[in-house]
Amino acid sequence: MKVVHTVSQLRAELDALENVGFVPTMGALHEGHLALIELAQIEAEVVVVSVFVNPTQFSDDQDFAKYPRTLDTDIEMLQSLQKGPDILFAPSVDEVYPDGLGQPLAPRAGALGSVFEGASRPGHFEGMLHVVSWFFRAVRPQVAVFGAKDAQQLFLVKRMVHREFKDQIRVVEVETVRAENMLARSSRNARLSPAAFAAAPVLFEAMVKAEELITEGVAPSIALESARKQIESQPLAKLDYLALVNKENFAPIADDFSGHAQMLVAAVVDGVRLIDNISFYIQEQE
Ligand code: PAJ
Repeated sequence: MKVVHTVSQLRAELDALENVGFVPTMGALHEGHLALIELAQIEAEVVVVSVFVNPTQFSDDQDFAKYPRTLDTDIEMLQSLQKGPDILFAPSVDEVYPDGLGQPLAPRAGALGSVFEGASRPGHFEGMLHVVSWFFRAVRPQVAVFGAKDAQQLFLVKRMVHREFKDQIRVVEVETVRAENMLARSSRNARLSPAAFAAAPVLFEAMVKAEELITEGVAPSIALESARKQIESQPLAKLDYLALVNKENFAPIADDFSGHAQMLVAAVVDGVRLIDNISFYIQEQE
C-alpha cells in the first residue's frame, strides 16, 4: 500500500490506471470501513482509501476536536490486511482547502440539508458534499463505496453524483456492519463507556420492533411512537430524532404509505451522538 498526501502524488500513481474504486473515510478505521474496502476490491481493480477528518462537516468545534485521529494505527491496520487497498490518500487541511476554511461552500444539500442530521448539525451536509466532490475530482473513481449506516449522506451523495457527475461514478453501498450486540459500528463507539456500549443497542432494537409492528399491520405512526417510548425508557439515551421516510425521496411518510421505507434514528448516548437506520418494505394494506 502506497501512502500519499497530495493530489499530485495521487495523480502520479493513478494517471495510467483505469477502473479505480474509492472509499472515502475520516479514519479511526473499524470493521465497517473494512467491509467497504472489501467491496471496492470486488468492484474495481485499484482501490484508493482516503483518510481525512473534514473540518467543514463538523458544526461543533468540540466534536471536531474530539473526533479520533489515529492515522498511524489506520495505516498499520490496512497494511496488516491480507489484501489491503493499493493507495491510502491522507491529504492535509491545506491541500483540501488551499483558500482556507472561511470560503462559502456551494449549497448542494438543499432542503435535505436542514432536516434529521442536518437539523442537529447545521452545515454538516454542505461540508460533507463539498469534500466528497473534492475527493471525486482528485481520485476520479469509476466506483465509490459508501455505507448504508449514514443513510442521509448516501442519499445526498447519490443525488450529487447524478446532478454534478452525470452518473459517471457508480455509487455502491454496504450494509451496516454491527458489533455482537447489534450496535452499528462507528468510529465514535471508541468514546462509549462500557455502560453506554451496553445501552446503545436500544436504538436498533426499538427500530426492529417498530418494523415488526408495521409488518403486522400496526399503523407506522403508532409503531414509531412505541419505538420512541422504548428509546426514551433507556436512561443513558437522549433521543434526537426518530423518523420514517420514503427511501426514494427521504420525505416522511403518512400511515397509508406503501413501498420502500427507511427508519432513521439519532440519539446521544452518555455524551456520544450515534445514528442508525433500517430499511424495509411496507406492504399495501387491504
Ligand atoms: P466515516 O464516518 O469515516 O465513514 C466512512 C464510510 O464508512 C461511510 O460511507 C460510512 O457510511 C461507512 N461506515 C461507517 N460505519 C459503518 C458501518 N458500521 N457499516 C457500514 N459502513 C459504515 O462518512 C464519513 O466518514 C464522511 O462523512 C466522509 C464520507 C468520509 C466525508 O468526509
